[in-house]
Amino acid sequence: MAYKGHEQNRKLWDEIVEIHYNHPDYKVKEFLEGWSSLKPIELEALGDVTGKRLLHLQCQFGMDTLSWARKGAIVTGVDISGKSIELANKLKQDAGIDAEFVCSDVVELIGKIDSKFDIVFQSHGTLIWLGDLDKWAEVVAYYLVSGGTYFIVDEHPISYLFLEEGISYFDKQPRRYSNSHDYCDYDYIWKEESVEWQHTMADIINALIKAGLTIERLEEYNKGYYAVEPDWYEENSYYYPPGGPTPYPLMFSLQARKK
Ligand SMILES: C[S@@+](CC[C@H](N)C(=O)[O-])C[C@H]1O[C@@H](n2cnc3c(N)ncnc32)[C@H](O)[C@@H]1O
Repeated sequence: MAYKGHEQNRKLWDEIVEIHYNHPDYKVKEFLEGWSSLKPIELEALGDVTGKRLLHLQCQFGMDTLSWARKGAIVTGVDISGKSIELANKLKQDAGIDAEFVCSDVVELIGKIDSKFDIVFQSHGTLIWLGDLDKWAEVVAYYLVSGGTYFIVDEHPISYLFLEEGISYFDKQPRRYSNSHDYCDYDYIWKEESVEWQHTMADIINALIKAGLTIERLEEYNKGYYAVEPDWYEENSYYYPPGGPTPYPLMFSLQARKK
């Protein structure tokens, strides 16, 4: 049974993933020529992944997943959108890289993959799509081997307060958005609604602690992973508004370990 709100988001991602796949900003062509979509923060945090089993949650069309595979990891990517998984399998074939892709809601993943993983990874635009952080953290803990690493780099939950008016950091009700501009193709207006959740940093950390993980590192960054507005500029794979680094965090990263 589809989790409330997640089914709507599945429809949205089925609608927009091909736009991203074909958009020059995602650099599929460059990826097929050997370019890696991984950014400095995750590369520094996870280091040498050679031979490690890596589970990538919310992988979209799998370019980050396949980039980890090129670095030597044995990878599995998961996404709720069937269209995304279809394109991930196409990209895997076109690139000639070994990987497994599974179509599933993250919060319903337990039982759909048999293996356990040394690393569970998630990045850039993921937690806002999940309505149940306890369930998410349970899935992360379930799929990690003992001693395994969880790593996420994502939007800082407080960033929305600076980018959007009239919302509270403590909102618990999901927000529904209609007619949003695509973050890649600014001229494309999403036909499907999105359902998004505001989680506090405490919600995120406490869900992981409750699932039995030990938090090892938390970082905050005054730069973004994409251009929120068309006039943002890029420097070393990250994005800044015209005034430069923001006086509030746009991203966070967190590393945790399963005992
Ligand atoms: C912003 S994208 C992820 C970005 C990824 N780092 C990338 O750039 O390819 C968010 C992804 O989360 C997926 N997603 C949303 N809700 C999900 C859920 N409940 N379970 C699994 N995947 C989900 C969407 O289908 C989409 O592919």
